[in-house]
Amino acid sequence: MRHLMSPLDFSVQELDQLLDLASDIEKHPGKYAHACDGKKLATCFYEPSTRTRLSFEAAMLNLGGSVLGFASADSSSAAKGESISDTIRVISCYADICAIRHPKEGAALVASQKSKIPVINAGDGGHQHPTQTLTDLMTIRSLKGRLGNITIGLCGDLKFGRTVHSLINALIRYENVKFILISPEELRIPDYIREDVLQANHIEFEEVERLEDAMGELDVLYMTRVQRERFFNEEDYVRLKDYYILTKEKMALAKPDMIVLHPLPRVNEISTEVDDDPRAAYFTQAQNGVYVRMALILTLLEIEVQEETC
Ligand code: NCD
Repeated sequence: MRHLMSPLDFSVQELDQLLDLASDIEKHPGKYAHACDGKKLATCFYEPSTRTRLSFEAAMLNLGGSVLGFASADSSSAAKGESISDTIRVISCYADICAIRHPKEGAALVASQKSKIPVINAGDGGHQHPTQTLTDLMTIRSLKGRLGNITIGLCGDLKFGRTVHSLINALIRYENVKFILISPEELRIPDYIREDVLQANHIEFEEVERLEDAMGELDVLYMTRVQRERFFNEEDYVRLKDYYILTKEKMALAKPDMIVLHPLPRVNEISTEVDDDPRAAYFTQAQNGVYVRMALILTLLEIEVQEETC
């Protein structure tokens, strides 16, 4: 039985297969409409979510399965003091696969060790968010035609942004990817990513503070929200929250074929005037989240769909 805790749980070849499957699902959704008939997905969300939880649920429903779960810690027995290990043992009796989001780093891993069903990490604190990475990879691959030979700018809260941590881990495995890490001093990438992931693997990267300085060089710009819920005090958040705002003027400095991604939700970091720019790809990215989660559910449940069924 396989779980998904980090994008590194899949080899590059397995990731390619998963992305190929997601693209096929996008093209031929009818072929997959009954692939999970009779199967159940549990979504156990101890932290707020719109896209991740609902795209998981939409994914399972699109596959003909059904869904159960909870959307906040308050509405689960966590509020009564139950451990995640006990919760997953019980959920293993009710569902075939489970997606867990939790504010504590490593919570999904702890759950996976006691689980009898595949567990998917749907975000663990400021650590990892592998299914967002699958979404990001699918979007880059489909819009740029490749995952190697790109310069990607990651901008905003690189300290607490788990989507950034997972995406860096995944992208270093492709040829000739250069990272430009754009953040204020206080929100720089954690040392363990800089040293153990980037430097240890001899990956080309730069750290800059001004978005304008990087803009002209980028093939992909990945904007992120300042992660308010992970700050120790509100004053620091208020000081840093509008540090970067992507506007039409800044977009004018970019290559004509650069794409802008954002895992969403956006607060102020991308002005809504950018939404009409053909390079803005964040809503396409959110749509891709359903296809990759469908592909992931099929992969972890080891369900193969061969022939067109309708
Ligand atoms: C991200 C998350 O939860 O880390 N959201 C998402 O899943 N699309 C990004 C964020 O909340 O800023």
